[in-house]
Amino acid sequence: MSDDKFSWLGEDELRELIEKYGRTMPVISVVNTEPGSGKSTLIAHMAAAALAGGTESVVAIDMAARSSLAHWWNRRRGGKPALSSYTGAGKLSAILGRLRDMGVKLCLIDTPSVANDMVEQAIAAASIVVIPCRPRRKDLDAVREVAVVAHYLEKKCIFVVNSALPKTRMTEAIAVELSKLGTLAPTPIHRRPAFAKAMEEGRVMAEVEDEARAAKEIATVWEYLQERLERMRS
Ligand SMILES: Nc1ncnc2c1ncn2[C@@H]1O[C@H](COP(=O)(O)OP(=O)(O)OP(=O)(O)O)[C@@H](O)[C@H]1O
Ligand SMILES: [Mg+2]
Repeated sequence: MSDDKFSWLGEDELRELIEKYGRTMPVISVVNTEPGSGKSTLIAHMAAAALAGGTESVVAIDMAARSSLAHWWNRRRGGKPALSSYTGAGKLSAILGRLRDMGVKLCLIDTPSVANDMVEQAIAAASIVVIPCRPRRKDLDAVREVAVVAHYLEKKCIFVVNSALPKTRMTEAIAVELSKLGTLAPTPIHRRPAFAKAMEEGRVMAEVEDEARAAKEIATVWEYLQERLERMRS
């Protein structure tokens, strides 16, 4: 998704997405074209946190075929968002228009790990673009490409260091690089094997025994994003 490759959508459609949705209904798009960076995990945890915090009518739009989000959703027994899939047929703006008219209070968009027009639409429609990045060069390279597109579309990006390893040089270096590109979430999310198990079982870390620290990190990131959304509305 480099600078010269992101004009799949017409300027009119991009403007429609930018002007009509992210500004009138909170939309968080989670984007990183590098596979496995933690997009679906973050969406599941944000959706559960929003619902637990009293946000009514949370919708997750799944743009990724066979995503871990759909698996989590199918297994989930607790409060879960409405799940809608979007695979590129029709217009995202039409779906978002319907959700907004229904009074949806939060829309979370999980994107595929490819640079395509759906990802571009998700960025265009976002109030905030959340970009998870593991402490790996490949993740950072993909982040840079996403950040270029978001910048072009005048979108606010929040970077989240995910799968962080405490006190490692790479984790620290990635945080420094990300903060040069824009705003870093107030805490990294550390690497914990329990994330995979929780997702597999349809749970979130707040519901897993002995994972209070992970739950706290998620809560801190979510509270920060919520605050940003509220500030944008006022
Ligand atoms: N902080 C973390 N610590 C440990 N494992 C994690 C963490 N975050 C995500 N994972 C694991 O990494 C894998 C990829 O996560 P996830 O599916 O959320 O990434 P993704 O970006 O949505 O991937 P895809 O490209 O397949 O859509 C999963 O097995 C997940 O459980
Ligand atoms: Mg995914």
